[in-house]
Parts: sequence; structure tokens; C-alpha cells
Amino acid sequence: MQTVIIMLGAPGAGKGTQSLRLSQELELPHVSTGDLFRENLKNQTEVGLRAKGYMDAGELVPDEVVLDMLFGRIQKSDCDRGFILDGFPRTVVQAEALTKRLGGEPEVLAVNLEVDDDDVIKRMSQRRVCEDCGAPYHLTSAPSKKEGICDLCGGTLMQRSDDREEVVRHRLKVYYDQTAPVVTFYQDQRCLRSVESRSSVEDVFSSLLEILQTLRG
Ligand code: AP5
Repeated sequence: MQTVIIMLGAPGAGKGTQSLRLSQELELPHVSTGDLFRENLKNQTEVGLRAKGYMDAGELVPDEVVLDMLFGRIQKSDCDRGFILDGFPRTVVQAEALTKRLGGEPEVLAVNLEVDDDDVIKRMSQRRVCEDCGAPYHLTSAPSKKEGICDLCGGTLMQRSDDREEVVRHRLKVYYDQTAPVVTFYQDQRCLRSVESRSSVEDVFSSLLEILQTLRG
């Protein structure tokens, strides 16, 4: 059976960090709409150029652009066994479109990573990401082994332009206005689990594995 894991949570909640680990553990592809947009932008595609202004301002990219890009990605053969969604869905319209697209077949688990706004601001100011593979690091809580170099692919680490404090504060507002209702959507579908994401990366990951074990056990 196809397994779809949906990672929800505010900007900086740790969706990318935990998705990467889950992807390695479960051998399922990590599908991040933020990474897909950044890759498109790097390649100067129409989708990337269209998304840029919204991303720089901390606004959501329009639903139709996101849905076309995401559905194109999950129809690839590496997603046949399932996939881990990071940063999608971010509006109820996107959640409804995903439910329709998946039909009743796959096992769906939505996980809400809970974190305080103050922690988010602190995390983002010290986040660094690999400019090649997008892997996230943190200068103190999750540093790379070699300063400025990605452990996974050897790429250069950089600061995201939307991690400036004023943009992060706006992204949080957008999250509460437009994405928080998606948590309620999955709660109503009875497939939501919440995980406290204020503790260490290792502890959060252990909690996620426990949830997966109870589901499969
Ligand atoms: P996107 O790239 O998805 O950004 P985001 O959701 O705002 O999330 P982040 O990537 O900023 O945070 P994260 O939760 O992955 O945290 P991370 O693991 O890196 O989207 C960017 C933009 O693209 C959006 O603003 C929008 O414009 C557009 N977009 C994307 N998807 C869209 C959609 N579906 N619809 C419309 N528009 C869309 O962790 C953060 C930091 O904290 C790191 O430094 C990490 O090392 C550290 N950290 C993580 N966990 C811990 C921990 N437990 N303890 C201490 N530090 C930790």
C-alpha cells in the first residue's frame, strides 16, 4: 500500500529536518514544495520566476501554480510506494485537491510539529541550507561537520533570503491565517498526530518513529 506522510507546522518547526531523516529511514522520497520552487528558480524556469516575488515577501505562491508543480512531481515512479510531503498542503484548497488526487487508496498520516514563535525566530536566524541539495543546518543545534559545507553532498551552505527576521514574522502571520486551518482539516479526517518540536532533533525524530510504529504495529 502507498504511504503518504504529510509534515505540517509553522515555518522553522523542523519539517525539512525531520522529513530528511524520515526519508532515509523509510526509503521514501522527500517532496518539499519550497525546495522544488528554489530548484525551479535556480534553473530560471517560468514556475521559479513566478514564485520568486511571493517567496521573497513571505507570501504563499498561488494554489494553481503549487498544485501543477506538486502533482507533476508525485506522479514520478519514485513516488509509487509513497512519499513524504514537506510544506504542502498549505491551504485548505491544496488539502482538498490532494485528497481528491490521492483517492481512497494510500495510507495517509499528517504530523503537526508544534513549536513556539520565539523558537522559530531564533532557529531561522541561525539556519543555513545547502545551496545544492537544500539540506538544513543550524549554527549551534545542528551544525555541519565541516563549517560552511554540506555533510550530504559537499555543497556550500548559505542563508535563505526569506530568513530575515521581518520576513519570518510575516511568514508566521501567513501561517496562522492560511495554513493553520489545514491542521483542523486533517484532524477532521482523523489522520492527524501532533508532535512537540521544541525538544532536540533526535527526540523529535524518536517521537515520529514511535508514531509510525503504532500505526504499523
Ligand atoms: P518552505 O521552504 O516550505 O518554508 P517553510 O514552510 O516556511 O518552512 P521552512 O523550510 O522555513 O522550515 P522547516 O519547518 O522546514 O524547518 P527546518 O527543518 O529547516 O517554503 C518557502 C516559501 O515557498 C513559502 O514562504 C512560500 O512562499 C513558498 N511555498 C512553499 N510551499 C508552498 C505551498 N504549498 N503553497 C504556497 N506557497 C508555498 O528547521 C529550521 C531551523 O531549525 C534549521 O536551522 C534546523 O537545523 C533547526 N531545527 C530544526 N529542528 C530543530 C530542533 N528540534 N531543535 C533545534 N533546532 C532545530
